[in-house]
Amino acid sequence: MIPLTLAQIAEITGGQLRGDPGAVVTGEVVIDSRRAAPGGLFAAVAGERADGHDFASAAVAAGAVAVLATRPVPVPSVLVADVPAALAALARFVIDALPAAAIAGITGSSGKTTTKDLAAQLVERLGPTIAPAGSFNNEFGHPLTVLRADAATRYLVLELSARGPGHIAYLCRIAPPRYGVVLNVGQAHAGEFGGLDQVARAKGELVEALPAGGAAILNADDPRVLAMATRTAARVVTFGVDDRTAQIRPAQIRPAEIRPAEIRPAEIRAADVRLDDLGRPSFTLLTPEGQAGVTLQLHGAHTVPDAVAAAALARELGLGLADIADGLCAAVARSRWRMEVHRREDGVTVINDAYNANPESVRAALHALRHLAQDGRGFAILGHMAELGEVSRASHEDIGEFAARAELAGLIAVGEEAAPILAGARRVRSWTGEALVVPDGTAALDALANQLKPGDVVLVKASRAAHLEGVAADLLISHGEAARSPVPPGEGAAR
Ligand SMILES: Nc1ncnc2c1ncn2[C@@H]1O[C@H](COP(=O)(O)OP(=O)(O)OP(=O)(O)O)[C@@H](O)[C@H]1O
Ligand SMILES: [Mg+2]
Repeated sequence: MIPLTLAQIAEITGGQLRGDPGAVVTGEVVIDSRRAAPGGLFAAVAGERADGHDFASAAVAAGAVAVLATRPVPVPSVLVADVPAALAALARFVIDALPAAAIAGITGSSGKTTTKDLAAQLVERLGPTIAPAGSFNNEFGHPLTVLRADAATRYLVLELSARGPGHIAYLCRIAPPRYGVVLNVGQAHAGEFGGLDQVARAKGELVEALPAGGAAILNADDPRVLAMATRTAARVVTFGVDDRTAQIRPAQIRPAEIRPAEIRPAEIRAADVRLDDLGRPSFTLLTPEGQAGVTLQLHGAHTVPDAVAAAALARELGLGLADIADGLCAAVARSRWRMEVHRREDGVTVINDAYNANPESVRAALHALRHLAQDGRGFAILGHMAELGEVSRASHEDIGEFAARAELAGLIAVGEEAAPILAGARRVRSWTGEALVVPDGTAALDALANQLKPGDVVLVKASRAAHLEGVAADLLISHGEAARSPVPPGEGAAR
């Protein structure tokens, strides 16, 4: 954080100062009062369950210099009309004060956090880098992340999300990116957008924001992403995966929609993808400068395009091939509950992919489950996929069909909204697995109790709202495995 006086904060935000104008904010800006720390600024936000204004005094008692608020609070404050707008103004001020920092934005329907975490671990090799914790990618998390930058910062690797048109353009105005990565256009939130073409329009706002001297890094394997090449002033760099069978193609793209002219090798790409017994990919990274072998510590073939996108971004920023390959091999999963694979002492493997769910990411996870369960039985505990709009029922049925074709031994749908998954599975007449709907995670655990044996693999996946990560943790705890910290930092408010 660049030190700012309360007088400066009031001026930048157009707010009304109630406190010492000379008091200086030197620490982090937070919206969670429990994270308030000495020297910081607490931004009070009224959420669904709680109103930050009620925690203003607690935040100041914890050391916050002042509170950014929309109504009077009994502690030093800057009163503003709109807290997200104030955060945006402060973040933009910081960006304008740091002209030497290179800004990269990453968007897409699935894999933003995975790619951002990989890219950050590469770019950190070049110099001081700010990247969000977890999924801080919306009108709150994005400016809060940018506000962490200071004079030492050389790179910002940012995750940009959209729940509607204009959202990404807004985030790009806060921190104008020079580099933009678009991963894919999928069903996530498609219901809110009104369809995939609308999702593509919105995600493409990132490349529209790039300057002529910048680079638009586009997934050559996703036609809707590749088509964004015409929407940018920046130079276009493509990434992709040569072995298309190793990739999880977005379900909605039928091969007929892909014209032969579009099937040409991407500039930065992975070839010869293979998975080890825990689903960790190895591949050859091909670049104009040469090639290098990579083995990821992440699980699932779907992480390969994410890794190649991260490589393409790091390369644009000046990282050499050897460092890119070395960095990808060394990179760990920084954000929780995305394809966490634990093998229990009794030989049962648990995949905790309970962070969120949409049709593409569920297919990716089932693909990985099938691979891991090659020598045993695969079970999936699936909650519903939220915010799919009118295609919701059909999407759940399709997932069920996909799961049945993956020859799972058991499919447990958690909650009535997930029940259509089973209807889809029953479409596959040859499928002999067990299928049931249970009301909650506890009932899912009960259904599996005493069934599992060495070699079995259990996938746990659902939309965030279902909170199934506890089910995965229980599957591990009940077998003496240490549970890892329950609440990852930075995964609370943002999407
Ligand atoms: N390229 C990909 N294709 C399909 N699924 C993916 C891909 N990359 C990651 N996933 C899966 O998508 C889920 C979410 O991953 P991640 O958190 O990286 O995505 P995100 O785009 O940041 O999500 P959010 O919109 O919630 O921020 C995980 O289950 C992950 O395994
Ligand atoms: Mg994310």
